Amino acid sequence: MDNPVEFFEGNSWTCGVVGLGYVGLPLALTAVSKGHAAIGFDTSEDRVRRLGAASSPIDDVSDADLASALEAGLSVTGDADDLKLADAIFICVPSPLGRNRQPDMSYIQSAATTVARIARPGQLISLESTTYPGTTDDILVTALADVGLEVDRDVYVAFSPERVSPGDELKTAEIPKVVGGVSALSTAVAAAAYSKLVPNVHAVSDAKTAEMAKLLENTYRAVNIGLINEMAQLAHEIDIDIWEVIEAAATKPFGFQAFFPGPGVGGHCIPLDPQFLAWRAKEANFTTRFIDTAEQVNEGMPAWTARRVGSMLNKRGLPIFGTRILGVGISYKPDIADDRESASARVLVELRNQGAEIEVYDPLVPPDRIRRHGFEPSTSFDGYSAALILTDHQGIDYNAISAAVPVVFDSRNAYRRRGIEVDNVEVL
Ligand SMILES: NC(=O)c1ccc[n+]([C@@H]2O[C@H](COP(=O)([O-])OP(=O)(O)OC[C@H]3O[C@@H](n4cnc5c(N)ncnc54)[C@H](O)[C@@H]3O)[C@@H](O)[C@H]2O)c1
Repeated sequence: MDNPVEFFEGNSWTCGVVGLGYVGLPLALTAVSKGHAAIGFDTSEDRVRRLGAASSPIDDVSDADLASALEAGLSVTGDADDLKLADAIFICVPSPLGRNRQPDMSYIQSAATTVARIARPGQLISLESTTYPGTTDDILVTALADVGLEVDRDVYVAFSPERVSPGDELKTAEIPKVVGGVSALSTAVAAAAYSKLVPNVHAVSDAKTAEMAKLLENTYRAVNIGLINEMAQLAHEIDIDIWEVIEAAATKPFGFQAFFPGPGVGGHCIPLDPQFLAWRAKEANFTTRFIDTAEQVNEGMPAWTARRVGSMLNKRGLPIFGTRILGVGISYKPDIADDRESASARVLVELRNQGAEIEVYDPLVPPDRIRRHGFEPSTSFDGYSAALILTDHQGIDYNAISAAVPVVFDSRNAYRRRGIEVDNVEVL
């Protein structure tokens, strides 16, 4: 390849994706929609089989879109050697936290080893998994060097975070991409490649800047959610309506961004991502006070919400023990079926531990997933002494719930936001 930047600025190259989940699958589909061939590799045999049969495992990709992509140039494989045909390889594997909330780098390490084994000269390799600043150099460049591949001489290496938010309207192809290479040439090559996938590329000096940019974005959210959750607790203590306070503050045309309280943070990004930064900070003997405080407040919200429910029942002469409660919404955010790290489930577990009899209504989360939390799914609103709105999906009939149960605890301000005025709803 004479000029790698010109090559990737060209119209047709082959895109390889490692890890076909929430991030990798939409990226592969984006590549195909932009006229590139795409090879998706996953270590899960089941996932490869399912995808090959055009059955999408994720909310944001429909079976029909997957089927069209398979016809238009997407191939799905469990054989990493197929990635040799790719010109650019994007690594989108999980990066969870381990037992003591330290980064679990095993998936990235394993993907880096696999890619290094099959890598060929001229390839661009870009890591997209969320991770601590320094990972691309520490793990990916090292794995490539171990097999004799040198950056810029043989391969180009970069980091570019995925910023998609499941269920939101903005999709992978519409969100600007931050791109940082491990060398100036790698940055230029990666920026050229991404510019053929998304309309807006923001190149930064190096990979670790791009890695930290992603963590800053989600730390900003975690800290602001922590702040507003603490304000909600304070407002309750001094008998002020936090929702009205936020609405008033948000009329300021500058300097204030509204965040909203809730029963806690969930999902696999906001509660986890700041911990990558906190972990890296500890290595540098630096204490991340905002991250730690926000985590403390956010982690305390499910128990605080459960206590609020307890006092709501108490005011009506009801104990928690033995009271039949309907939990409404168990996914971690509205309008998606993903229940990973859901704060809603934690509120319900707190109440169940105190003897409440809980069932769950969530029209999006499949019954077997609700049962995995230890709750029976329900399709009816009848026969409960209280309902808790924990995740406010759009399609729920909130009027029917408040008509069927004596009292509702609304942790999302779902009723007032929809202009529903009923007098048996207590808001968080
Ligand atoms: N889900 C999101 O909304 C989101 C948003 C931004 C960033 N991220 C980050 O993107 C990364 C991927 O997240 P996800 O939600 O797509 O994960 P996911 O669990 O949905 O998908 C990961 C896929 O990778 C496969 N896999 C695991 N190890 C592999 C390996 N060594 N080689 C090939 N395939 C392998 C798994 O089988 C799975 O199909 C994570 O770092 C995550 O933090 C996720």
